[in-house]
Amino acid sequence: MTAQLIDGKAIGLKVQEEVRLAVAKMKEEHDYVPGLATVLVGDDPASNTYVGMKQRTCKKLGIRSIGHTLPADATQEEVEKLVSELNADPTVNGILVQLPLPGHLDEEAILNSIDLEKDVDGFHPINIGRLAMKGRDALFAPCTPAGCMRLLEEIGVDPSGKDAVIVGRSNIVGQPMAMLLQKANATVTVCHSRTKDLAGHVRRGDIVVAAIGRMEMITGDMIKPGATVIDVGINQKEDPTRKRGYRLVGDVDFESAKEVAGWITPVPGGVGPMTIAMLMQNTLRAAEIYLAKKS
Ligand code: GUN
Repeated sequence: MTAQLIDGKAIGLKVQEEVRLAVAKMKEEHDYVPGLATVLVGDDPASNTYVGMKQRTCKKLGIRSIGHTLPADATQEEVEKLVSELNADPTVNGILVQLPLPGHLDEEAILNSIDLEKDVDGFHPINIGRLAMKGRDALFAPCTPAGCMRLLEEIGVDPSGKDAVIVGRSNIVGQPMAMLLQKANATVTVCHSRTKDLAGHVRRGDIVVAAIGRMEMITGDMIKPGATVIDVGINQKEDPTRKRGYRLVGDVDFESAKEVAGWITPVPGGVGPMTIAMLMQNTLRAAEIYLAKKS
């Protein structure tokens, strides 16, 4: 192994501790506690797990967590009514609508209905628009890409002037990642399912971000020696030696990539812990914005 491991678990805990201290200070100085409302529609097991983790982390850091669950057949009006009540609630600073939503709901309309200043996921089109524009700043950056940027900062890899290659163009990771890296002065390539020469593009990356959702697709032979490899993927790989019958692997083939890369995130324990940590940071920021406006 030549690559150094990027310890997302430790870095995520460091961010959490920063937030915990700032929350305690806010309580002391302003007698105010940040609040995060989660909205879960339906009973998708993975979404349930993620929302539960977010709520537990809130409690750990002293953030008030307000959980709302709607049935899988909730109507568009019901979801939008809930969001509108949360928009009006001064004890709620952040509103997180867990994605994906059931197919009959209009995701875009629901995300549009979240108050811009409570958009701690950073999915509101105005936040995304600001992220995409030169010289403008989003109030909140989407949590997973923001977490990847923090990982780069922590290991001292400055994207400025570097070639960054992102594999995947989702609204949650690939697209906002491209915008953040571009804002940090990287030269960005976004690869996707129609990309002709994926290996050729990835091989030019000083920074590679894999967010395709395809198990171990990026192999060591595609990596430029010394590159920084950030693996956003979480896939279940069959493994009869494990009690649950599988283990978690990323979109990068870790075994071959670690022999070539300079830095690499493990799965689990790389990007995963950063998503929740950045959500906590965004919620704190939303409370700071609220208090600044109030005074
Ligand atoms: N589904 C997968 N990732 C996310 C996320 O970061 N936020 C929300 N709201 N839903 C998700």
